[in-house]
Amino acid sequence: MYYPQEIVDEVLANTDIVDVISAHVHLKKRGKDYVGLCPFHNEKTPSFTVVPGKNMYYCFGCGAGGSAVTFLMKYNNSTFTEALQELADRAGITLPVRELSEEAGKREKHRQDLLAVNKETATYYYKLLRSRRGERGMRYFAGRQLSPEALNKFGLGFADGSRNDLTAYLRKKGFSDDLILESDVALFNEKQGVHDRFWNRVMFPIQDVRGRVIGFGGRVLGDSKPKYINSSDTEIFDKGRNLYALNLARRSKKDYLILCEGYMDVIAMHQAGFIEAVASLGTAFTPGQASLLHRYTNRVLLAYDSDGAGVRAALRNIGILRSAGLDTAVIDLRPHKDPDEFIKKEGKEAFQERIDQAENSFFYELRMLSRSYTMDDPAQRTAFHREIAKRLCRFSDEIERDNYITAVADKYLIKLESLRRLVASYGEATGYGDQNERGRAGTAGYAQAYRGGRNGAVETGRAAGYAQAYRGGGRNGDRETGRTAAGTGAGEQVHGARQAGPGAGEKSRDTRQTGAGPGRQGLDQGQAGTGSGRQEKAGPAVRAGRPGGASPLSRAELALLNKQRMLLTMIIDERSVFPIVRRYLTPADFDGTLFRKTAEILWEQLEQGGDSACAASVISAFDTPEEQEAVAAMLNARAPEAEDGPPDPDGLGRTLRELVIAVKESSIARMSRTDGGSPASLQDLLAAKKLLQTIRTARFNV
Ligand code: UTP
Ligand code: MN
Repeated sequence: MYYPQEIVDEVLANTDIVDVISAHVHLKKRGKDYVGLCPFHNEKTPSFTVVPGKNMYYCFGCGAGGSAVTFLMKYNNSTFTEALQELADRAGITLPVRELSEEAGKREKHRQDLLAVNKETATYYYKLLRSRRGERGMRYFAGRQLSPEALNKFGLGFADGSRNDLTAYLRKKGFSDDLILESDVALFNEKQGVHDRFWNRVMFPIQDVRGRVIGFGGRVLGDSKPKYINSSDTEIFDKGRNLYALNLARRSKKDYLILCEGYMDVIAMHQAGFIEAVASLGTAFTPGQASLLHRYTNRVLLAYDSDGAGVRAALRNIGILRSAGLDTAVIDLRPHKDPDEFIKKEGKEAFQERIDQAENSFFYELRMLSRSYTMDDPAQRTAFHREIAKRLCRFSDEIERDNYITAVADKYLIKLESLRRLVASYGEATGYGDQNERGRAGTAGYAQAYRGGRNGAVETGRAAGYAQAYRGGGRNGDRETGRTAAGTGAGEQVHGARQAGPGAGEKSRDTRQTGAGPGRQGLDQGQAGTGSGRQEKAGPAVRAGRPGGASPLSRAELALLNKQRMLLTMIIDERSVFPIVRRYLTPADFDGTLFRKTAEILWEQLEQGGDSACAASVISAFDTPEEQEAVAAMLNARAPEAEDGPPDPDGLGRTLRELVIAVKESSIARMSRTDGGSPASLQDLLAAKKLLQTIRTARFNV
C-alpha cells in the first residue's frame, strides 16, 4: 500500500530517529551526531552515524543509510508499510486505513481469524508445558539439553494426553468449530466429533517471517512413528513458502544463512549462537523457499544430515538454490549425524570451524559424483573426467569457468591443458552455461556489486551505488534514462540482457528477489534503464556481471558523480548555500536520473522555504530501499576539507564554485552532444555558456 508523501513526512517529523535506532544500536554522542557500531556490517570502530539534524543515519563503512523507515526496514527486514506502521504507532499517528473490496476484506478477516486460532493454540501449549501437566514435556526438552531461553525463544509447548482440551479451550475463546477445523489444530470423525489433532507431543509452533504463528509441528516423546506430525497446509500455512525460524534468522548479521533439515537442529544451532539457521517444514525444499531465502541473503550453507538421505537432499537442493541465484556451500558434519548432535559432541567453536570450511557446492557435487566411479579403472576415470568437463561448461562466465577448471584439475590431478581442451570441445558443441547458471552469473554478481559493502568491498559498493544513481532510478525504464546512459557512453550492458529475448522483461520488484532464471530482468534499478533505450541499440554485446565486479563507469564519470554528490550534500548541510546555487543551476543540470530527481525534490522543498527540507524527507520520496539507500549516500558526501582540518569559510565558497562549475560544464557538454537524444536548442546552449562565464567571476559568499 502506498501512503501519500505528506503522511510519511508527518510520521518522520514526529519520529526521533536517535530514539528509534538506539533501541537496536548502542549510540554515543559525538558533536551533534551519534555514532555506534553499524548493525549492517561487521566493524570494530564505529562508522555508523545518526544525524538528528537531518533525521537520518549513514554508515561511512558500508554505505547503508536512510531514514528511520529505511532503518527499520533493513534492520527487521520488514516492508515499508510495516516499518511505517511501527513508527506511526510510536508517534501516536493513525495511518489511513486501506480500502479493501468487500471480497478482499472478507478474505483478510478470515486470514486474521485463522491467525488468531493459531496464536491461541500456541499460547495454550506454551502454558501447558510450563504447568504441572507439562512436566513430561519439560523432562523431554531437558533431556535434549534445551535451555529455558531456547524454549521461550521458540515458543515451545506441550500437548498432553487429553483429546479435547484444546478444542474446548478454543471454543471458550469464541472460535467456531469450522474455524478450528480449518486451522487444522483439530480433526473431525464420527466417533470423536471435533477433537484435538495433537496429543502426547512436544509442540513446535511454526512462525512466518513476521513472527506470526501459522502452524505446528509436534514430536513424539519416544521412538514411535510418525516422529513428527505437522499441521496440513491452510490458507495461512504454505509449507513450501515458509521456513522454520526465518523470523529469527533474518536478524542475523552474517552474509549467509544456514539451511538444515530439522526443527531440533535449528534450535540447537540458535542456542549455540548460530541464529542464521533455518529449516524446511517437513516437506521437500522448494524453489519458493529458495527465493524466500534470497530475499535475505546471497549465500546459503547446507547443514544436512550426513547420511545417504541427507546427501541426496543436499544434491537436490543445491540445484534449487542455484537456480534461485544463490551461492551455496555444504557444511561437513561427519562423523556426526546432524548439527544438533555435532554441537552437543564437539561444541560451537568446532561448528564454526566447519562453517568456515564449508565446501563450495560445485566441489561437493563432484566429490559425491566421484564416489560412483572407480578411479583406477582408466575407462571409468575417463568417464568421470568427461562428466566433470560437461559440468564445467555450465559456467557461462569465462573467467569463472577457467578458475574452476584450474581448481578442478588441481584437485583431481587432471592435466590442466587436457581438461581445458575437453571443456572447450563440449562447450563448442553445446554452448556454455545452462539456464540456472546464466541467471546466477548475471544477477547474483550484480546484486553483490551493489551491496558490496556488506561483503566488505566498500569501494565496489559505492561505485555501484553511484552507477545506479547515475543510470537512474529507472524503475519505470523511462526513455530519458536510456538516452542519458547511451549518450555518455557509459554503455554498460547488463548481463541479463543476453537472456532478455522476446517475452522477457518481467521485472522483479525487489533486488533481493532477483535471479529466478533466464529472461527475468535482474536488478530493477540499473537494468530497467537498459530496458528500452540501450538494449536495442547496443546489440548482443554482453559483459558478465562478476561477483564483486565494479560497474564500468569511467574515472571522469565517477568524478562528476562525486561532485554532484558533494554539491547536494552541501545544500542539505548548509542552508546558505542554496540561494547561491539556484542562481546558476537547475535540477536539469544534474546528470543521472536519480541525482536529477533528488535535486528536483530538494529544490522544490527549499524553494517553498520549507525548514523541513531535510534529508529524511527527500529520501522518503523514493520508492525502493535501493533508491533510498543510494540517495542517502548521495546526501552524505564527506567534503574534502573535513579530512584536512577545520573548514574555512573561504574554502567553502571556493569548493562550492568548483562544484557548480563542474556540474554546469557537464550539463553544457551534454547539451551540445548531438548523438543520442535531442540536442538542446542553440539558444539554450548559448545562454548556458554565458551563465558559466558569470559563475566563473561571481562572488560565492557562503
Ligand atoms: P529428523 O528426523 O532429522 O528430525 O527430521 P529432527 O528435527 O532432527 O528431530 P530429532 O533430532 O530426531 O528429534 C527432520 C525434519 O523432517 C520433518 C521435521 O520437520 C523434522 O524436523 N519430519 C521428520 C517430519 O515432518 N515428520 C517425520 O516423521 C520426521
Ligand atoms: Mn535430527
